[in-house]
Amino acid sequence: MPEIDEYQFTSSQDWFSHNVAVWGPLLTQLKTSLPSDRAPRALEIGSWEGRSATYLLRTLCTAPSSLLVCVDHFDLMRTEAGKQRRARLEHNLTVASGGVPRYRVMEDFSVPALMRLLEEEIEYSGGFDFVYVDGSHEADDTFLDAELAWRITAQGGLFVFDDYGWETEDPASIHHPKRGIDGFLALHDGQYETVYRGYQVILRRTAAPRIGFLSKSVSSTANELGYGMSVVLCVNEAYAIGAAVAIRSAVECTPNGRITVYVVDCGLADASYERLQQACGSQMGERVTMVRTSLPSHSRALEDPTWAKIDMFALLPVERVLYLDADVLVRKNLSELWSTDLQGRALGAARNIGHPLGHVGVWDEKRPYFNAGVMLLDLARIRQRSTTWSHYSASASRRSSRTRTR
Ligand SMILES: C[S@@+](CC[C@H](N)C(=O)[O-])C[C@H]1O[C@@H](n2cnc3c(N)ncnc32)[C@H](O)[C@@H]1O
Repeated sequence: MPEIDEYQFTSSQDWFSHNVAVWGPLLTQLKTSLPSDRAPRALEIGSWEGRSATYLLRTLCTAPSSLLVCVDHFDLMRTEAGKQRRARLEHNLTVASGGVPRYRVMEDFSVPALMRLLEEEIEYSGGFDFVYVDGSHEADDTFLDAELAWRITAQGGLFVFDDYGWETEDPASIHHPKRGIDGFLALHDGQYETVYRGYQVILRRTAAPRIGFLSKSVSSTANELGYGMSVVLCVNEAYAIGAAVAIRSAVECTPNGRITVYVVDCGLADASYERLQQACGSQMGERVTMVRTSLPSHSRALEDPTWAKIDMFALLPVERVLYLDADVLVRKNLSELWSTDLQGRALGAARNIGHPLGHVGVWDEKRPYFNAGVMLLDLARIRQRSTTWSHYSASASRRSSRTRTR
């Protein structure tokens, strides 16, 4: 009988040890690339007796708060062989953990197990730093496993496919993982860099994670639903640099969910617009979409860009938008502001300094007013009152040469 601290592996079933030469340096690099307060999280689809899992526990998931999730069906424990494999896996993981359990075993087929993990990640949304796809060898199963697991792979995380060079089946067959892996690589082109291609394929995820669905058991916001947040800035050439800072800070402070940035063009050179797109870095196109919106030729904002904030009401193809002045620096996640309940009102904004005394020059007399630099706008409601707004726009523009809204 082996000692309790000895692994129980079947010697003739080692599908892992030959990978150590490639995995070793990559795992070291991954570990050092993670922020100091981030305990690595790994996910393995297909664990068998735990050779690769124990390696991950010993090398990557070493911090007490790190976690390895092992998914395997163990014949749904309906066979003696399945029960024995499960017992061996438990023993081997316990040995590798050295007393502090840092693993979770999901005794299930990969698809239901991954669906559960996806639901859990809606609320956690931290993702996995390492994913090993080593379950079914069928091309479509491999593709589906990868597809689901990809959605919970953290940006910068490693994603490993086993058996790309498997020799048992024809690589062109649906019964070979290669076909599924090639399909996945083509579909997700642009979201990863390939760090190794041999018997295995190893990717580093460059794109931000996207779960892409909600569940009834998890609270929802429009942002989680994937509709994302709509932000608008009215920008002319003089404010192009400020707008780049505003957009960049908004995207960086709001790391989850899609953001559409509408740029209302109040006289912006093409080169400056391109710089605004570059301000979002690698998130552009992946998580952030920028839409350049032209003002109509009769727009009063072409004389004075201040009034673009009113002319944009009719232009934007959305019902809710967060307006930011082009000289704003965002310092907090915008999600909470974006989901603010306007309680039926058309607009949410901060009271300006001096309220309720008002501001000389905005009106002919002192009246209460708000800061128009950051506004959450219910455009659908505003459009219902469009006559009031056009009247406001028209009368305001008559004064525009001598006043500003804030
Ligand atoms: C090659 S073994 C994994 C070896 C293990 N990663 C290692 O290196 O030691 C493949 C495992 O995937 C499991 N498996 C196959 N299809 C699966 C599926 N659809 N869902 C969950 N597990 C699956 C099998 O039960 C088996 O344990």
